[in-house]
Amino acid sequence: MIFKDQRVTELFGIEYPILQGGMAWISDHELASAVSNAGGLGVIAAGNLSPEELEMEIEKTRELTSRPFGVNVMLLSPNAPELIDLVCSKRVPVVTTGAGNPGPYISKLKSAGVRVVPVVASAGLARRMEKAGADAVIAEGMEAGGHIGKVTTMALVPAVVDVVSIPVIAAGGIADGRGVIAALALGACGVQLGTRFLCTEECTVHLNYKEKLLSSSELDPVITGTITGHPVRALRNSLTRKLEEVERRGGTFEEFEMIAVGGLRRAAKEGDVKDGSVMAGQICAIVRDVKPVSKVFKDIINEIEETLRRIGGVEG
Ligand SMILES: Cc1cc2nc3c(=O)[nH]c(=O)nc-3n(C[C@H](O)[C@H](O)[C@H](O)COP(=O)(O)O)c2cc1C
Repeated sequence: MIFKDQRVTELFGIEYPILQGGMAWISDHELASAVSNAGGLGVIAAGNLSPEELEMEIEKTRELTSRPFGVNVMLLSPNAPELIDLVCSKRVPVVTTGAGNPGPYISKLKSAGVRVVPVVASAGLARRMEKAGADAVIAEGMEAGGHIGKVTTMALVPAVVDVVSIPVIAAGGIADGRGVIAALALGACGVQLGTRFLCTEECTVHLNYKEKLLSSSELDPVITGTITGHPVRALRNSLTRKLEEVERRGGTFEEFEMIAVGGLRRAAKEGDVKDGSVMAGQICAIVRDVKPVSKVFKDIINEIEETLRRIGGVEG
Protein backbone atom coordinates (compact mmCIF):
# COMPACT_ATOMS: atom_id res chain seq x y z
CA MET A 1 0.00 0.00 0.00
CA ILE A 2 1.52 3.33 -1.08
CA PHE A 3 -0.38 5.51 1.38
CA LYS A 4 0.00 3.95 4.83
CA ASP A 5 -1.62 6.89 6.60
CA GLN A 6 -5.29 6.51 5.64
CA ARG A 7 -6.70 9.41 7.68
CA VAL A 8 -7.51 11.61 4.67
CA THR A 9 -8.88 8.81 2.48
CA GLU A 10 -11.07 7.62 5.37
CA LEU A 11 -12.23 11.13 6.27
CA PHE A 12 -13.48 11.83 2.73
CA GLY A 13 -14.23 8.27 1.57
CA ILE A 14 -11.81 8.50 -1.38
CA GLU A 15 -9.14 6.23 -2.84
CA TYR A 16 -6.07 8.50 -2.92
CA PRO A 17 -5.34 11.38 -0.47
CA ILE A 18 -5.13 13.83 -3.36
CA LEU A 19 -7.42 16.89 -3.50
CA GLN A 20 -7.96 19.23 -6.41
CA GLY A 21 -7.79 22.79 -5.15
CA GLY A 22 -10.84 24.98 -5.71
CA MET A 23 -10.03 27.50 -8.45
CA ALA A 24 -12.49 30.34 -8.99
CA TRP A 25 -13.73 30.71 -12.60
CA ILE A 26 -12.04 27.39 -13.41
CA SER A 27 -12.86 24.34 -11.30
CA ASP A 28 -16.38 23.48 -12.35
CA HIS A 29 -18.33 20.20 -12.45
CA GLU A 30 -16.23 18.85 -15.31
CA LEU A 31 -12.90 19.06 -13.52
CA ALA A 32 -14.31 18.19 -10.09
CA SER A 33 -16.12 15.07 -11.29
CA ALA A 34 -13.09 13.89 -13.27
CA VAL A 35 -10.88 14.17 -10.19
CA SER A 36 -13.41 12.36 -7.99
CA ASN A 37 -13.83 9.63 -10.61
CA ALA A 38 -10.04 9.20 -10.69
CA GLY A 39 -10.04 8.48 -6.95
CA GLY A 40 -9.21 11.91 -5.53
CA LEU A 41 -11.43 14.66 -4.14
CA GLY A 42 -12.71 17.01 -6.85
CA VAL A 43 -13.66 20.48 -5.66
CA ILE A 44 -16.09 22.94 -7.26
CA ALA A 45 -14.99 26.55 -6.76
CA ALA A 46 -17.86 28.72 -5.59
CA GLY A 47 -15.77 31.91 -5.44
CA ASN A 48 -17.43 33.46 -8.50
CA LEU A 49 -20.84 31.77 -8.30
CA SER A 50 -24.29 32.80 -7.14
CA PRO A 51 -26.16 30.25 -4.98
CA GLU A 52 -28.29 29.32 -8.05
CA GLU A 53 -25.18 28.74 -10.16
CA LEU A 54 -23.57 26.69 -7.41
CA GLU A 55 -26.70 24.56 -7.10
CA MET A 56 -26.47 23.77 -10.82
CA GLU A 57 -22.79 22.90 -10.53
CA ILE A 58 -23.53 20.53 -7.64
CA GLU A 59 -26.30 18.83 -9.60
CA LYS A 60 -24.16 18.47 -12.73
CA THR A 61 -21.31 17.04 -10.64
CA ARG A 62 -23.69 14.47 -9.16
CA GLU A 63 -24.76 13.47 -12.68
CA LEU A 64 -21.12 12.80 -13.59
CA THR A 65 -19.91 11.06 -10.45
CA SER A 66 -21.35 9.07 -7.58
CA ARG A 67 -18.17 9.66 -5.56
CA PRO A 68 -17.56 12.28 -2.85
CA PHE A 69 -16.61 15.81 -3.92
CA GLY A 70 -16.22 19.18 -2.27
CA VAL A 71 -17.11 22.86 -2.66
CA ASN A 72 -14.65 25.68 -2.03
CA VAL A 73 -16.15 28.80 -0.48
CA MET A 74 -14.17 32.04 -0.39
CA LEU A 75 -15.33 33.55 2.88
CA LEU A 76 -14.68 37.12 1.77
CA SER A 77 -17.41 36.74 -0.89
CA PRO A 78 -20.44 38.82 0.09
CA ASN A 79 -22.71 35.81 -0.59
CA ALA A 80 -20.67 33.36 1.54
CA PRO A 81 -23.53 32.86 4.10
CA GLU A 82 -25.98 31.87 1.31
CA LEU A 83 -23.41 29.55 -0.28
CA ILE A 84 -22.81 27.87 3.08
CA ASP A 85 -26.59 27.39 3.53
CA LEU A 86 -26.82 25.81 0.10
CA VAL A 87 -23.90 23.45 0.76
CA CYS A 88 -25.68 22.33 3.96
CA SER A 89 -29.06 21.82 2.30
CA LYS A 90 -27.47 19.93 -0.62
CA ARG A 91 -25.46 17.77 1.80
CA VAL A 92 -22.20 18.34 -0.03
CA PRO A 93 -19.70 15.94 1.57
CA VAL A 94 -16.81 18.42 2.04
CA VAL A 95 -16.26 22.17 2.19
CA THR A 96 -12.87 23.78 1.84
CA THR A 97 -12.65 27.43 2.78
CA GLY A 98 -10.29 30.19 1.73
CA ALA A 99 -9.83 33.90 2.41
CA GLY A 100 -11.27 34.21 5.87
CA ASN A 101 -12.21 32.49 9.10
CA PRO A 102 -14.83 29.72 8.78
CA GLY A 103 -15.24 29.64 12.59
CA PRO A 104 -18.80 31.09 12.59
CA TYR A 105 -20.00 28.46 10.09
CA ILE A 106 -18.32 25.32 11.43
CA SER A 107 -21.06 24.07 13.76
CA LYS A 108 -23.78 24.62 11.12
CA LEU A 109 -21.77 22.73 8.50
CA LYS A 110 -20.90 19.90 10.85
CA SER A 111 -24.47 19.41 12.00
CA ALA A 112 -25.42 19.06 8.30
CA GLY A 113 -22.80 16.31 8.02
CA VAL A 114 -20.38 18.41 5.94
CA ARG A 115 -16.63 17.93 6.56
CA VAL A 116 -14.95 21.30 7.07
CA VAL A 117 -11.43 21.83 5.80
CA PRO A 118 -10.03 25.37 6.00
CA VAL A 119 -6.99 26.51 4.06
CA VAL A 120 -4.39 27.92 6.47
CA ALA A 121 -1.18 29.86 5.93
CA SER A 122 0.16 29.71 9.50
CA ALA A 123 0.44 27.25 12.39
CA GLY A 124 -1.45 29.65 14.68
CA LEU A 125 -4.48 29.68 12.39
CA ALA A 126 -4.32 25.89 12.02
CA ARG A 127 -4.48 25.54 15.80
CA ARG A 128 -7.46 27.91 16.01
CA MET A 129 -9.26 25.96 13.27
CA GLU A 130 -8.69 22.68 15.10
CA LYS A 131 -10.13 24.19 18.30
CA ALA A 132 -13.14 25.50 16.33
CA GLY A 133 -13.88 21.95 15.13
CA ALA A 134 -12.31 21.69 11.65
CA ASP A 135 -11.95 18.10 10.41
CA ALA A 136 -8.59 18.73 8.71
CA VAL A 137 -6.57 21.70 7.47
CA ILE A 138 -4.92 22.47 4.16
CA ALA A 139 -1.52 24.05 4.85
CA GLU A 140 -0.87 26.08 1.72
CA GLY A 141 2.61 27.44 1.09
CA MET A 142 3.36 30.61 -0.85
CA GLU A 143 4.69 28.72 -3.88
CA ALA A 144 1.03 28.17 -4.76
CA GLY A 145 -0.96 29.88 -7.48
CA GLY A 146 -3.77 32.28 -6.56
CA HIS A 147 -4.03 34.09 -3.20
CA ILE A 148 -1.07 33.26 -1.02
CA GLY A 149 0.40 33.62 2.46
CA LYS A 150 3.98 34.35 3.49
CA VAL A 151 5.48 30.95 4.34
CA THR A 152 6.80 28.28 1.97
CA THR A 153 5.29 24.78 1.96
CA MET A 154 8.61 23.36 3.16
CA ALA A 155 8.50 25.45 6.35
CA LEU A 156 4.71 25.66 6.84
CA VAL A 157 3.75 21.98 6.72
CA PRO A 158 6.00 20.74 9.56
CA ALA A 159 5.14 23.84 11.62
CA VAL A 160 1.42 23.00 11.27
CA VAL A 161 1.89 19.25 11.76
CA ASP A 162 3.67 19.91 15.05
CA VAL A 163 0.78 21.83 16.61
CA VAL A 164 -2.40 20.05 15.50
CA SER A 165 -3.63 16.48 15.72
CA ILE A 166 -6.20 16.66 12.89
CA PRO A 167 -4.99 15.57 9.42
CA VAL A 168 -2.81 18.09 7.57
CA ILE A 169 -3.06 18.31 3.79
CA ALA A 170 -0.11 20.03 2.09
CA ALA A 171 -0.63 22.44 -0.83
CA GLY A 172 1.63 24.67 -2.87
CA GLY A 173 4.36 23.45 -5.20
CA ILE A 174 3.17 19.87 -5.62
CA ALA A 175 2.55 18.54 -9.12
CA ASP A 176 4.02 15.04 -9.29
CA GLY A 177 4.91 11.98 -7.22
CA ARG A 178 8.15 13.53 -5.95
CA GLY A 179 6.17 16.40 -4.48
CA VAL A 180 3.70 14.02 -2.85
CA ILE A 181 6.53 12.07 -1.16
CA ALA A 182 8.11 15.33 0.02
CA ALA A 183 4.80 16.43 1.56
CA LEU A 184 4.33 13.08 3.31
CA ALA A 185 7.92 13.26 4.59
CA LEU A 186 7.07 16.63 6.17
CA GLY A 187 4.22 15.01 8.07
CA ALA A 188 1.24 15.73 5.82
CA CYS A 189 -1.17 12.86 5.19
CA GLY A 190 -2.62 14.25 1.98
CA VAL A 191 -1.94 16.81 -0.74
CA GLN A 192 -3.87 19.43 -2.69
CA LEU A 193 -2.85 20.34 -6.25
CA GLY A 194 -4.02 23.34 -8.24
CA THR A 195 -1.58 24.29 -10.99
CA ARG A 196 -1.17 20.69 -12.24
CA PHE A 197 -4.91 20.31 -12.78
CA LEU A 198 -5.07 23.46 -14.94
CA CYS A 199 -3.33 21.51 -17.70
CA THR A 200 -5.76 18.62 -17.93
CA GLU A 201 -8.16 17.77 -20.72
CA GLU A 202 -11.17 18.10 -18.42
CA CYS A 203 -10.17 21.56 -17.19
CA THR A 204 -12.29 24.12 -19.06
CA VAL A 205 -9.88 27.03 -18.59
CA HIS A 206 -9.15 28.84 -21.89
CA LEU A 207 -6.60 27.14 -24.19
CA ASN A 208 -4.42 30.30 -24.16
CA TYR A 209 -4.12 29.92 -20.37
CA LYS A 210 -2.95 26.31 -20.69
CA GLU A 211 -0.48 27.22 -23.44
CA LYS A 212 1.04 30.07 -21.43
CA LEU A 213 1.45 27.77 -18.47
CA LEU A 214 3.12 25.04 -20.53
CA SER A 215 5.87 27.41 -21.65
CA SER A 216 6.50 29.10 -18.29
CA SER A 217 9.41 28.57 -15.94
CA GLU A 218 9.57 28.66 -12.14
CA LEU A 219 10.60 32.33 -12.38
CA ASP A 220 7.50 33.45 -14.26
CA PRO A 221 4.91 33.42 -11.45
CA VAL A 222 5.23 36.76 -9.64
CA ILE A 223 3.48 38.23 -6.61
CA THR A 224 1.32 41.33 -6.87
CA GLY A 225 -1.24 42.84 -4.51
CA THR A 226 0.81 43.05 -1.34
CA ILE A 227 -0.58 46.59 -0.84
CA THR A 228 -4.13 45.24 -0.85
CA GLY A 229 -3.35 42.76 1.93
CA HIS A 230 -4.32 39.91 -0.41
CA PRO A 231 -1.24 39.04 -2.48
CA VAL A 232 -1.74 36.90 -5.56
CA ARG A 233 0.69 34.74 -7.52
CA ALA A 234 0.20 34.84 -11.28
CA LEU A 235 2.34 34.52 -14.40
CA ARG A 236 4.27 37.65 -15.37
CA ASN A 237 2.55 39.59 -18.18
CA SER A 238 1.38 43.06 -19.13
CA LEU A 239 -1.14 43.05 -16.24
CA THR A 240 1.41 42.12 -13.55
CA ARG A 241 3.81 44.77 -14.91
CA LYS A 242 1.09 47.44 -14.62
CA LEU A 243 0.24 46.30 -11.09
CA GLU A 244 3.91 46.25 -10.08
CA GLU A 245 4.27 49.80 -11.38
CA VAL A 246 1.34 50.99 -9.21
CA GLU A 247 2.90 49.29 -6.18
CA ARG A 248 6.41 50.67 -6.89
CA ARG A 249 5.24 54.26 -6.96
CA GLY A 250 3.02 53.79 -3.91
CA GLY A 251 -0.30 54.07 -5.78
CA THR A 252 -3.59 53.77 -3.97
CA PHE A 253 -5.62 50.65 -3.26
CA GLU A 254 -8.39 51.94 -5.56
CA GLU A 255 -5.95 52.51 -8.42
CA PHE A 256 -4.64 48.97 -8.02
CA GLU A 257 -8.10 47.44 -7.86
CA MET A 258 -9.23 49.32 -11.01
CA ILE A 259 -6.58 47.47 -13.00
CA ALA A 260 -6.78 44.13 -11.19
CA VAL A 261 -10.53 43.62 -10.98
CA GLY A 262 -11.91 40.86 -13.22
CA GLY A 263 -8.38 39.73 -14.10
CA LEU A 264 -8.86 36.00 -13.50
CA ARG A 265 -12.11 35.94 -15.46
CA ARG A 266 -10.43 37.73 -18.40
CA ALA A 267 -7.64 35.16 -18.52
CA ALA A 268 -9.61 32.01 -17.67
CA LYS A 269 -12.77 32.64 -19.69
CA GLU A 270 -11.77 35.06 -22.46
CA GLY A 271 -8.20 33.83 -22.95
CA ASP A 272 -6.69 37.28 -22.43
CA VAL A 273 -3.33 36.14 -21.10
CA LYS A 274 -1.76 39.60 -21.57
CA ASP A 275 -4.11 41.76 -19.51
CA GLY A 276 -5.78 39.00 -17.52
CA SER A 277 -4.53 37.33 -14.35
CA VAL A 278 -2.95 33.98 -15.25
CA MET A 279 -2.79 32.65 -11.69
CA ALA A 280 -0.36 29.75 -11.36
CA GLY A 281 2.16 28.39 -8.88
CA GLN A 282 5.93 28.08 -9.21
CA ILE A 283 5.59 24.36 -9.91
CA CYS A 284 4.31 25.33 -13.39
CA ALA A 285 7.92 24.66 -14.45
CA ILE A 286 7.31 20.89 -14.37
CA VAL A 287 3.86 20.96 -15.96
CA ARG A 288 4.80 20.23 -19.56
CA ASP A 289 1.74 18.49 -20.98
CA VAL A 290 -2.04 18.55 -21.11
CA LYS A 291 -3.40 15.13 -20.20
CA PRO A 292 -6.55 13.50 -18.87
CA VAL A 293 -7.06 13.74 -15.10
CA SER A 294 -6.92 9.92 -14.88
CA LYS A 295 -3.41 10.04 -16.41
CA VAL A 296 -2.31 12.66 -13.86
CA PHE A 297 -3.27 10.22 -11.12
CA LYS A 298 -1.66 7.23 -12.86
CA ASP A 299 1.59 9.13 -13.39
CA ILE A 300 1.66 10.37 -9.78
CA ILE A 301 1.27 6.82 -8.45
CA ASN A 302 4.08 5.57 -10.74
CA GLU A 303 6.31 8.50 -9.76
CA ILE A 304 5.70 7.78 -6.06
CA GLU A 305 6.85 4.19 -6.53
CA GLU A 306 9.86 5.33 -8.57
CA THR A 307 10.79 7.94 -5.95
CA LEU A 308 10.52 5.44 -3.10
CA ARG A 309 12.82 3.04 -4.99
CA ARG A 310 15.31 5.86 -5.63
CA ILE A 311 15.47 7.03 -2.03
CA GLY A 312 15.44 3.52 -0.60
CA GLY A 313 11.88 3.56 0.75
CA VAL A 314 11.03 0.15 -0.71
CA GLU A 315 12.97 -2.88 -1.90
CA GLY A 316 13.59 -3.48 -5.61
C1 LIG B 1 -5.95 29.72 -11.01
C2 LIG B 1 -6.07 29.45 -9.54
C3 LIG B 1 -7.22 29.86 -8.86
C4 LIG B 1 -7.36 29.59 -7.49
N1 LIG B 1 -8.53 29.94 -6.87
C5 LIG B 1 -8.71 29.56 -5.57
C6 LIG B 1 -9.99 29.74 -4.95
O1 LIG B 1 -10.95 30.22 -5.57
N2 LIG B 1 -10.12 29.35 -3.65
C7 LIG B 1 -9.08 28.78 -2.94
O2 LIG B 1 -9.26 28.45 -1.75
N3 LIG B 1 -7.87 28.58 -3.52
C8 LIG B 1 -7.68 28.92 -4.81
N4 LIG B 1 -6.49 28.62 -5.44
C9 LIG B 1 -5.49 27.79 -4.72
C10 LIG B 1 -5.68 26.30 -5.07
O3 LIG B 1 -6.90 25.82 -4.57
C11 LIG B 1 -4.53 25.41 -4.52
O4 LIG B 1 -4.52 25.41 -3.11
C12 LIG B 1 -3.18 25.83 -5.03
O5 LIG B 1 -3.23 26.01 -6.43
C13 LIG B 1 -2.13 24.78 -4.69
O6 LIG B 1 -0.86 25.17 -5.10
P1 LIG B 1 -0.25 24.85 -6.57
O7 LIG B 1 -0.84 25.87 -7.48
O8 LIG B 1 1.22 25.03 -6.38
O9 LIG B 1 -0.64 23.45 -6.92
C14 LIG B 1 -6.32 28.92 -6.79
C15 LIG B 1 -5.16 28.53 -7.49
C16 LIG B 1 -5.03 28.78 -8.84
C17 LIG B 1 -3.79 28.29 -9.56
